[in-house]
Amino acid sequence: MNPSTNWAEIINEGEAEKLEKYAEAIHAIQKKNAEKSSAGAQLPFKDWVNTRLASRPDGLAPGRALHHKGLLGVKAEFTVLDTLPDYAKVGIFAAPKTYQAYVRFSNGGATSDDDRRPDQQRAIAVKVLQVPGKKIIPGLENAPTQDFLMIRDPSLPFKNADEFVPFITLISAPMGLFRILFKVGLFRMLAIIKRVKSAPKIPMVSLATIKYFSASPIKFGPYAVHYALKPRSVDGPGAQPGQTPNYLGEELSGRLKNGTVIYDFGVQFFIDENRTPIEDASVEWKEDMATFIALARLTLTRQDTDSDPGRNLYEFIENLSFDPWHAPEEFRPLGNMMRARRVAYKASVKERQALPEPDGTEKFE
Ligand code: HEM
Repeated sequence: MNPSTNWAEIINEGEAEKLEKYAEAIHAIQKKNAEKSSAGAQLPFKDWVNTRLASRPDGLAPGRALHHKGLLGVKAEFTVLDTLPDYAKVGIFAAPKTYQAYVRFSNGGATSDDDRRPDQQRAIAVKVLQVPGKKIIPGLENAPTQDFLMIRDPSLPFKNADEFVPFITLISAPMGLFRILFKVGLFRMLAIIKRVKSAPKIPMVSLATIKYFSASPIKFGPYAVHYALKPRSVDGPGAQPGQTPNYLGEELSGRLKNGTVIYDFGVQFFIDENRTPIEDASVEWKEDMATFIALARLTLTRQDTDSDPGRNLYEFIENLSFDPWHAPEEFRPLGNMMRARRVAYKASVKERQALPEPDGTEKFE
């Protein structure tokens, strides 16, 4: 049986103006953090940031507004399987094929966090290259890329941007909690705090052995889906998290010197608004209801990230922009959180002067 096509977006009046304001609030944090880190002269990500610092008239070298710390940037292959049901044969999934990809792993925060801190928003961003078709973002219609962004959590503590943005922009501001209370109401504020506090503080051993979730929906032809990555690698018996501030990138780098790291990429199709809501990002699309269907394999190829080409690649990937809206229309992001991201990523990317979309012919030697 084909999946349901009965999904719908609900866009309230005045949403667009609100989302612009939210993007501005996030942009303000990005600029503030850039000012702070520029004061310290030596910035994260070594030479390339310092080169950019010298080249900007304001002397700032802003990084990403969120997911600021890049843990590792690597090359990968995205292989569409030959076992897909007919209804899943959409866009790049229409036929079995291997695409080249760039992958960036990141922590969730707005600054360069220590990897030893728990982080439910730890993430992977995958940019599939040489993807045909007209893309959504005006001006980037011919961009040859399609991005998939995922975090560690299958759902967020926040229903929508009206909850998410006050929390991330006000939490450390003067009278922060009081101002959040005013924006989201007592009931939701307590529920969100409870959820954040009760998030399992699972020790992270490796970026290679955890699942990653879109935690928000996209169109999939006539259908709607969440997407996810499931690791093929497992933690060895007694494996412990590393003890250095950058251990996650170091650990993955070590694995890739010796071999590949593989994940299964798959989707869960929309069932109904209760179990698989489009507009409420706080509800997990549970796998016992919405089955995970594997569509592709993501292989981080064997590579030396400490070599000169490996470092050049990492720096290049840091300068790229990953955005769920980098996609053809048939994969358009859905729901309020996604619409909020459309404006927020644009502002962040403009501020940090990210590179244009790559086409896969880049050389790193
Ligand atoms: C389910 C929800 C979300 C997921 C899975 C997600 C995931 C990600 C990931 C993986 C990145 C890093 C991209 C990279 O490596 O370049 C990122 C960056 C970012 N996110 Fe989100 N995010 C979510 C929600 C949001 C929302 C609601 C906002 C704001 C309203 C937001 C704002 C940003 C910004 C501004 C960046 C930096 C963009 C750049 O400069 O390239 N995110 N997000």
